[in-house]
Amino acid sequence: MAFPRTRMRRLRASAGLRGLVRETDLSAGQLVLPLFVTDAQTSGPHAGREPIEAMPGVQRLSIGAAVEEARQAAELGLAALMLFGVPAEKDEQGSGAWEEEGVVQLAVAAIKQAVPELLVMTDVCLCEYTTHGHCGVLGEDGTVENDATLELLARTAVSHARAGADLVAPSDMMDGRVGAIREELDGEGFQEIPILAYSAKFASAFYGPFREAAGSTPAFGDRRGYQMDPANGREAVREALLDVEEGADMVMVKPALAYGDLISAIKQATGLPVAAYNVSGEYAMVKAAASAGYLDEVSTVLEILTSLRRAGADTIITYHAKDAARWLAKQT
Ligand code: PBG
Repeated sequence: MAFPRTRMRRLRASAGLRGLVRETDLSAGQLVLPLFVTDAQTSGPHAGREPIEAMPGVQRLSIGAAVEEARQAAELGLAALMLFGVPAEKDEQGSGAWEEEGVVQLAVAAIKQAVPELLVMTDVCLCEYTTHGHCGVLGEDGTVENDATLELLARTAVSHARAGADLVAPSDMMDGRVGAIREELDGEGFQEIPILAYSAKFASAFYGPFREAAGSTPAFGDRRGYQMDPANGREAVREALLDVEEGADMVMVKPALAYGDLISAIKQATGLPVAAYNVSGEYAMVKAAASAGYLDEVSTVLEILTSLRRAGADTIITYHAKDAARWLAKQT
């Protein structure tokens, strides 16, 4: 029976009642902290922690500084780290991506040694390692060659697993990469290492600050030849289902904020654990508005993260992870 018998406001009248009927929870253990690790030597006031202008509070870290971050992440109860390498040297093929002594490989080993209980995920892609900034190797016509790239991605994933990564996350959007990586991991004895596929990764303006951070802005063209068209939802579900068929253990939607419909649809369609990547531009927007005094950072961030959980994300990758964990601890 509708109003006046039914009054929706009854259950909103106190913090206790609101808590009783809250549908969605958010906790530190659902958050993953991305880190940029570099082997470029930095000196001066920012040695070991080089600020990224478009991402206030986020830095490019030396391996030592990354280990410090890992300790804090573990203390705060975060779910995991997601590591990105920013190598001093790049080449056409992106060979730094699979080097045994590459920056991510060394960082994983150092972190797992210092903080073994913390889960370490690695981003598997070539764009941070190639001189041209594209996510794979280029063919004669200057476009990214899908099949030639698969082998390099698989080699990269295995090198991460060998260094001690707990989980690998391919973000390149080549067709068939999940299967290629699964096969190579299994062949090398890493059957137990899960794959988190960046299944629905869109060609998004929201990656702008990340590209400054990783020095991975494409030297020419853009990524629309491999990343998805933001207009397409059914295609995103199809991408995720294909990744499941190829052996993905978890799937991701990226960016997060403007893609809640797809977090929900992909969760339903796959039944797999779903990760949402609250990307660099989403972080930068909140930071800019908060520093201008236009938004309250704490409540805005917690609202965003809660909304991603409500959409169906089991886990959220966010540059706000450490702050959010501290704010959540204060709330209870
Ligand atoms: C690498 C990669 C990117 C991001 C994650 N992995 C950049 C891109 O595709 O250009 C973006 C993350 C962010 O914006 O926070 N392929």
